[in-house]
Amino acid sequence: MKPQLISVIGTGYVGLSTALGFTSNGYTVIASDPDKEKIKKIQEGILPFHEPKLQKQLEIAVKTGKLHVLNCEEAILNSRITFVAVGTPSQPDGSIDLQYIKKAACEIGDALKQKKTYHLIVIKSTVTPTTTENTLKPLVEAHSGKHCGEGFGLCMSPEFLREGSALQDVLNPDRIIIGEYDKKSGDILEALFRDFYSENTRSIIRTKLPTAEIIKYASNAFLATKISFINTIANICEKTPGADVTIVAEGMGLDKRIGSLFLNAGLGYGGSCFPKDLKALIAYSETIGYKPELLYAVENVNKTQPLKAIELCKSFLKDLKGKNIAILGLAFKPNTDDMRDAVSIQIIHQLLKEGAKVAAYDPVAIPNAKSIFRDRIDYITSAIQCLMNADCCLLVTEWDEFKRLKPEDFTKNMKRAILIDGRRIYDPEKFSGKMKFAALGLGK
Ligand code: UGA
Repeated sequence: MKPQLISVIGTGYVGLSTALGFTSNGYTVIASDPDKEKIKKIQEGILPFHEPKLQKQLEIAVKTGKLHVLNCEEAILNSRITFVAVGTPSQPDGSIDLQYIKKAACEIGDALKQKKTYHLIVIKSTVTPTTTENTLKPLVEAHSGKHCGEGFGLCMSPEFLREGSALQDVLNPDRIIIGEYDKKSGDILEALFRDFYSENTRSIIRTKLPTAEIIKYASNAFLATKISFINTIANICEKTPGADVTIVAEGMGLDKRIGSLFLNAGLGYGGSCFPKDLKALIAYSETIGYKPELLYAVENVNKTQPLKAIELCKSFLKDLKGKNIAILGLAFKPNTDDMRDAVSIQIIHQLLKEGAKVAAYDPVAIPNAKSIFRDRIDYITSAIQCLMNADCCLLVTEWDEFKRLKPEDFTKNMKRAILIDGRRIYDPEKFSGKMKFAALGLGK
């Protein structure tokens, strides 16, 4: 094939969003992933996960020949800049598992050995501080027989996209961070980003590799802190008659120093990033001899927050044994089918432990939920069906279609009209007069 500028190793959320961000702007991209099943789907234009706008973009890229799928070696040999976006999951002790990214570094090194021209490697995967320089660079050097800064360049440019709005976030980032091994590497990446974003270029920060790595963890840890903070305030509001955390957050958010985003109180954060990255940052801090007390507290608040839904449920039903509980929403957030570390998992396991019967509905996450709960819960195909004959309903994920439900949908269909709003989507004034209603962070 004709040599291209860009290749992407790893076709998960970050890799595929990066690749399709580039193709949407006219670049031709080579993607590579060792997972054959995933690759087959991508070649057929089927996104391996639910992300609406990205699905459309993939179809266009496949149809127009802007996305090529090759193995890692071919990807390196046929491109000049490679973005590495393989997964960096948690080990059982919470520390980062670098096995996939180390393997990628070795394979890239092997391919570079055969290459005569300079190549830039850009790490997009979230990696703990010093990993790029102290772990990945030596692996590439050993396998390629080349020196970083001569035969190849190295950058670390973290990704800040959110699931559910992946493509928008790639195309409109608030900032671009370029951690660079040397000036030449940074110059090449900055030129690519300036060309890609053209007049839309946001703030670009150029810095050293470990600073870029820390910016990613610090950003996620700060957002998680905001959530655990507002949930702490929610728990205080709940025991304060007349108090409402939603209005408290609004009142706080108008202060420019605080900002209104990420102050939605509820059942806590889940997903493939915040829980994993918090654990990895804590484990890293401990290895360098620092106990990050604030981060322990953020995690602890988040561990108990999902159980608040069950507490509220029991405040109405007392004993959950044999009770029918309707769960609205399973995914860790709306607009995704991702169930990784979703709070629904903890809630449903506890409900089952206490002898409740669980019926659950989610617009897209049911196939993934089935591999977690198997036949221990009932999977329902609509919100209204899910409410039928229920003794209590727990709203767990704030999908738009749940926001449209009216009090009558609950009162007409449930055995006992009891609603626990775990994400603060319902107006307490409209709902509390018509049924037994409780919401996180709403004082009784
Ligand atoms: C998060 C970050 O927002 C992205 O910037 C980052 O790139 C990504 O992790 C990553 O590291 O890859 P994501 O996990 O997709 O993105 O989703 P968020 O929108 O951040 O939501 C995370 C969790 O926090 C969800 O469970 C959500 O329900 C919860 N949340 C969010 C709240 O409980 N309250 C809020 O106010 C906001």
